Amino acid sequence: MSAILRMEKVTAGYIGDIDVLRDVDLSVEAGTITGLIGLNGAGKSTIMKTICGFLPPKAGAVVYDGEAITGLPPHRLLERGIFYIPQESSLFRHMSVADNLRLPLETLARRNKADGKFSIGERLAELDRHFPALKEKMSSPAGDLSGGQQKLVEFAKALAMKPRLCLVDEPSIGLSPKMVEDVFGHIRLFASLGIAILLVDHNVRRVVGMASRIYVLSLGSITASGTPADFAGDLHEQVKGWLGINF
Ligand SMILES: Nc1ncnc2c1ncn2[C@@H]1O[C@H](COP(=O)(O)OP(=O)(O)OP(=O)(O)O)[C@@H](O)[C@H]1O
Ligand SMILES: [Mg+2]
Repeated sequence: MSAILRMEKVTAGYIGDIDVLRDVDLSVEAGTITGLIGLNGAGKSTIMKTICGFLPPKAGAVVYDGEAITGLPPHRLLERGIFYIPQESSLFRHMSVADNLRLPLETLARRNKADGKFSIGERLAELDRHFPALKEKMSSPAGDLSGGQQKLVEFAKALAMKPRLCLVDEPSIGLSPKMVEDVFGHIRLFASLGIAILLVDHNVRRVVGMASRIYVLSLGSITASGTPADFAGDLHEQVKGWLGINF
């Protein structure tokens, strides 16, 4: 096993000298699911934005595939195989599902002009196998789809880009139990295809159940980490302890 991603003593924030992340150390092994849990406002999404280039860290390093990527812009990281599925929708509501899927591929194809051409049509056709439910929705405006179907489009968009690392932020928020199963099935699928996942979800038990390593973030600092076995037992009590709260 080797780490595809390492955050080394990363400190980051949005405004002035207010640090939202403090000295964060975290690593994601290639082809595995790593879970990140913590209370609202702990800084989980900020970690993801720091990794994918939306928020350059003030200190520390982000290392991907053995190379420092600290401060590189998001489009460069996308080209190198880092894809972010944000908490909120990233779809263009009035554009068709097919066009939403095509757009990032076209951008990638333009940038890849010199090295490694690929067929956008083939990439889109490959999606049918893993997203049969979207097949008949391709010409519908993305905004007409249910919340769960839109989330699947986000995953399809990710898979079409053939990422090596996918950052998945709160994928199950607002979805029906059936869609939640579907979405988590796709996360497992990604892992089975060799894509490393950094997963944030409020369902702690589920994250612990599917991740091979788990990190707990509290007020911008990693306060615990371990394997699912380390987190076994009375999960609820333990999580309360890690997060430093009493209900
Ligand atoms: N764009 C921004 N500008 C200023 N402050 C921000 C911005 N985004 C987030 N913050 C602040 O950074 C802190 C961490 O926010 P973040 O969204 O990373 O937390 P989170 O753990 O993802 O929370 P949630 O579980 O609610 O998604 C919060 O105090 C938040 O108000
Ligand atoms: Mg968040």
